[in-house]
Amino acid sequence: MRKFFFIDRTGFQSIALLVWLGLGAGVTAMPGTARAQSPDAEAGRKIAFDRGKGNCLTCHVIKGGDSPGTIGPELKDLKAKYPDRDELTAIVSDETKRNPTTVMPPFGRNHILTEQEISAVVDFLQTL
Ligand code: HEC
Repeated sequence: MRKFFFIDRTGFQSIALLVWLGLGAGVTAMPGTARAQSPDAEAGRKIAFDRGKGNCLTCHVIKGGDSPGTIGPELKDLKAKYPDRDELTAIVSDETKRNPTTVMPPFGRNHILTEQEISAVVDFLQTL
């Protein structure tokens, strides 16, 4: 009877351990928690890389992007360079305000991208 009780206890502990491991695997497999990027940053990456949307790769080297151009600077460490996200939003919306002779299209002013799309792109830029 004592032995039986012992087996029963370890059996219960194994089940508890399996449930705990299973929960852990379930949580890490959930979208958003396992990925380093937020859903908005992921959407922003798609917009930035889309040749018919942001088309940022035409001028910028961006980590993970194919066949970039080099008319603009490489986009990296932007969170350190522009800690205030409003600065990045302003650059993407209308860089001519900062530099009247820039070749970078004013994505907001020209309605190439919506405000929401620019916000997602800025989320993505902050991950670089
Ligand atoms: C036609 C070329 C061109 C395209 C397309 C372009 N840019 Fe630029 N971008 C530039 C240039 C050139 C600069 C350098 C600053 C300037 O000209 O005022 C720049 C600067 C920047 C900067 C500041 C970088 C720094 O290190 O200070 C950011 C951020 C940026 N671009 C983001 C983007 C994003 C996001 C897109 C796509 C939505 C994009 N750019 C599309 C040409 C471009």
